[in-house]
Amino acid sequence: MEKTFLMVKPDGVQRNLVGEIVNRFESKGFKLVGAKLMVIPNELAEQHYGEHKERPFFGELVDFITSGPVFAMAWEGENVIAIAREMMGKTNPVDAAPGTIRGDYGMTVGKNVIHGSDSPESAERELGLFFEKKELTSYTKQD
Ligand code: CMP
Repeated sequence: MEKTFLMVKPDGVQRNLVGEIVNRFESKGFKLVGAKLMVIPNELAEQHYGEHKERPFFGELVDFITSGPVFAMAWEGENVIAIAREMMGKTNPVDAAPGTIRGDYGMTVGKNVIHGSDSPESAERELGLFFEKKELTSYTKQD
């Protein structure tokens, strides 16, 4: 079954949005298979956002994502990668539709509340960066 990596960013944790965000994915029907509240070390942040290394906002991005606790999650379900992206909304909250997480709660392109893997390759890579295999659980969820 497909898995994805989602993370409530420091702004979302500070604004008490963890429960609301978990609730949206649970209510949709996805299964939470791993989670941790953590402050991301600099090195992990640079690895996670490695594809943005050359962008002018890279330093700002790393500073922000390491500025306070994040809530890192592994979610499982059919087409969870694409559906979670839809539920998150566009990267820039200005473009994100109402009803999406960023549309409802996002403030700026940097402080946009949540990160989610954009492809099966990035999901595998990001889950591997944030979770050890043994930290991901396997269980049967009741519908
Ligand atoms: P995320 O999905 O975490 O992946 C990369 C992040 O870069 C993105 O969300 C945005 O929060 C951030 N980002 C994109 N463009 C900018 C920008 N111009 N300035 C600051 N951050 C940005």
